Amino acid sequence: MGGEQPDGRRFLLCLVVSLLLQGRANAFTMNCSGFERHGVDPAIFQAVFDRKAFRPVTNQSYPTHVNISFTLSAILQVDPQLQLMTSFLWIDLTWNNPFISWDPEECIGIKELSVSAEQMWLPDIFILESMNVSLTPSGFTTFVTSEGQIKYSMPMRVTSICNLDIFYFPFDQQNCTLTFCSFLYTVDSMLLGMDKEVWEITNLSRKVIWTRGEWELLSINKATPKLFVGKNLYDQIMFYVAIRRRPTLYVINLLVPSGLLVAIDAFSFYLPAESQNRAPFKITLLLGYNVFLLMMNDLLPATGTPLISVYFALCLSLMVVSLLETVFITYLLHLATTQPPPMPWWLHSLMLRYTRKSCPATAPQDNNKSLGHSTTHLPGLKEPVELVAKGPGLVVAEVHGCPKQPRCRQEHETPQQQQLVELWVQFSHLMDTLLFRLYLLFMACSIITIIILWST
Ligand SMILES: *[C@@H]1O[C@H](CO)[C@@H](O)[C@H](O)[C@H]1NC(C)=O
Ligand SMILES: *[C@@H]1O[C@H](CO)[C@@H](O)[C@H](O)[C@H]1NC(C)=O
Ligand SMILES: *[C@@H]1O[C@H](CO)[C@@H](O)[C@H](O)[C@H]1NC(C)=O
Ligand SMILES: *[C@@H]1O[C@H](CO)[C@@H](O)[C@H](O)[C@H]1NC(C)=O
Repeated sequence: MGGEQPDGRRFLLCLVVSLLLQGRANAFTMNCSGFERHGVDPAIFQAVFDRKAFRPVTNQSYPTHVNISFTLSAILQVDPQLQLMTSFLWIDLTWNNPFISWDPEECIGIKELSVSAEQMWLPDIFILESMNVSLTPSGFTTFVTSEGQIKYSMPMRVTSICNLDIFYFPFDQQNCTLTFCSFLYTVDSMLLGMDKEVWEITNLSRKVIWTRGEWELLSINKATPKLFVGKNLYDQIMFYVAIRRRPTLYVINLLVPSGLLVAIDAFSFYLPAESQNRAPFKITLLLGYNVFLLMMNDLLPATGTPLISVYFALCLSLMVVSLLETVFITYLLHLATTQPPPMPWWLHSLMLRYTRKSCPATAPQDNNKSLGHSTTHLPGLKEPVELVAKGPGLVVAEVHGCPKQPRCRQEHETPQQQQLVELWVQFSHLMDTLLFRLYLLFMACSIITIIILWST
């Protein structure tokens, strides 16, 4: 008798609950008697399975609410040439089927059942940007709750078209859109919603992404504009997936070697200009740089003109310019030592002013000779204009502390010649230093510009 009492109570409770449920919901509450002995009876789901060809609503003018969420589990590839991003998504869809409902207490506590997805109506949600429909797998199962809520999850490899801008490569960020939309149903029949916040999706995706590959997930944002196609209005949810490239590989393989080569090129200015080694050294560097560019070409994006190409072009031109400079200086030196041409007066005075500290090194002088006289005997100066014009320069030189220097020239032809040679050599060295500083200035300016461009 003691065991009879609870059974009776339970029966009463079940009756009340099922009556309540019937009152609450609809006429589709399932009778799951016999589940404890024979498992789920397919017969009670038969009515649902038979309806799978139709949208599960009691009144066709009610829209179906579908909740969408997804987890980005991998970013497999980003192809700037085809403008495609390949990613792997776990898509979760949730909707209600009013024809499914049972009382979990009556059905030995079953709250959720898995049902083959082939037996159920599925919403035709797809991704607008997706470029390969064939990879959507089939043969998954849905989860059905006792309240008729259906959960459907599927993994999906999505190759989506995306506007990729590689100007800032390898420090680029991309913003790819994934638009979830019904292929067929307009807003009258299907409404899309979300049961998770986007930040939850972002956090979960960040946790799940296993690959420490090239791309890092920054953020996911969403927008829900409606889509007009002709007269039809479709509901859609757009997710903006922001990803950033991890630049380490490119910095180590591209930027650092090329920067080092340019630095060596800059330092090679310290090789003495007379030593004949500078030009071959620079040519070797240039060759090495070309080989480097050829080898590293695979790492660069195949399309567009990223800033890094400009950087490489800049490095190459810096090297070429420095080689040209070396050729020029070598030519000057050669000219100075073999047959020094007459020096224009302004240059002469400039040189004298500049090199007045080196006057002790000059040949013995004669103090009694006049300035005007001395100039007439300068070797190599054939034009009278230049001869006359030399006067002020020499005066300036005298005023500035090298009074005895010019006069040595009239003593013999050879010391004068020697001094001209010396001046030309000094001029070459001055030019070398000046051009080197210009080169450094230009290099610094352009590198700073590129760094500023990259960091914005
Ligand atoms: C459930 O079905 C069984 C027979 O299959 C029947 O005996 C029982 O009364 C039904 N229960 C309800 C609540 O309809
Ligand atoms: C279906 O819904 C529409 C609009 O809500 C209503 O006008 C119509 O009467 C409903 N039909 C039935 C059979 O309940
Ligand atoms: C991505 O692009 C969309 C629309 O163009 C914009 O609303 C969103 O803020 C962008 N996201 C990021 C992280 O830049
Ligand atoms: C969809 O999400 C909204 C908001 O979280 C929730 O109120 C609603 O019940 C969900 N619908 C389904 C079918 O899960």
